[in-house]
Amino acid sequence: MLFLPVFLLTILGFTGTHATPLAATGQMNHVERDAGLNAFLAILLANMPAINGPLTEVTSLITAFDKVLGTLTGAKDTRNELGGPCKEWTVIFARGTAESGNVGVLVGPPLFDALGDKFGSSTLTIQGVKNYSASVEGYLAGGDPAGSSEMARQIEAAKSQCPDTKLIASGYSQGCQIVHNAVSKLQASTARWISSVLLFGDPMKGQPLANVPSSRVFTSCHAGDDICNDGLFIGPAHLTYADNVTAAANFAATCV
Ligand SMILES: *[C@@H]1O[C@H](CO)[C@@H](O)[C@H](O)[C@H]1NC(C)=O
Ligand SMILES: *[C@@H]1O[C@H](CO)[C@@H](O)[C@H](O)[C@H]1NC(C)=O
Repeated sequence: MLFLPVFLLTILGFTGTHATPLAATGQMNHVERDAGLNAFLAILLANMPAINGPLTEVTSLITAFDKVLGTLTGAKDTRNELGGPCKEWTVIFARGTAESGNVGVLVGPPLFDALGDKFGSSTLTIQGVKNYSASVEGYLAGGDPAGSSEMARQIEAAKSQCPDTKLIASGYSQGCQIVHNAVSKLQASTARWISSVLLFGDPMKGQPLANVPSSRVFTSCHAGDDICNDGLFIGPAHLTYADNVTAAANFAATCV
């Protein structure tokens, strides 16, 4: 059994009759640090809470799941590297609704691992979208307006600071709305400069991104993920995009 704080177990529904999701995790009582991608996935799946409900009712579960995963995997939910030395790649990432920090845990950190495996972690500048509350209200409004403006500002800043970097704009869940909105605010020359766009669980799935050719856009939407139909229902299909980050990194590699 895991030695998690009791309040987290309670909030995630792992107590009493709901204890089964944590069963059979004999190796898990060691806190993992710097877990690789496969370990991250195993830990995510082994700890999947019984989330099945409308977004409006599950935000605290998502936040708590981020905290548990972050603790068990050592994933960092906050990245602020924009403005540092220019690297070959710059990744600007918008997290999902109710996720912690500025990159969350469910998709951002495993994606950065996959990109690091592909390109070398020392070649990456990683930045989360700041000034973005990732609230349900923002999702219902089609993507938090402040976060959308901030992501556009960050992409323009990356281009002016490091014109030779290859920029990856990425988001998960509401973060995809932020990417769509941000790209629509960019100067056309900046949007054309973007190397690739990586979207996971996109409520605006299939909608074109202004001045970014569709050949540079990777979208992962699981069958049964209601958020990809601009819905409200959150279930395991929406929480397991860490499965698809390696495919996204491979796609990014083709967009040079
Ligand atoms: C952050 O967002 C708020 C709106 O929520 C806006 O008024 C403010 O100017 C933004 N701050 C920065 C630094 O962009
Ligand atoms: C996501 O990854 C899983 C596991 O590799 C795969 O089975 C699935 O087809 C992928 N889904 C999408 C939408 O890319």
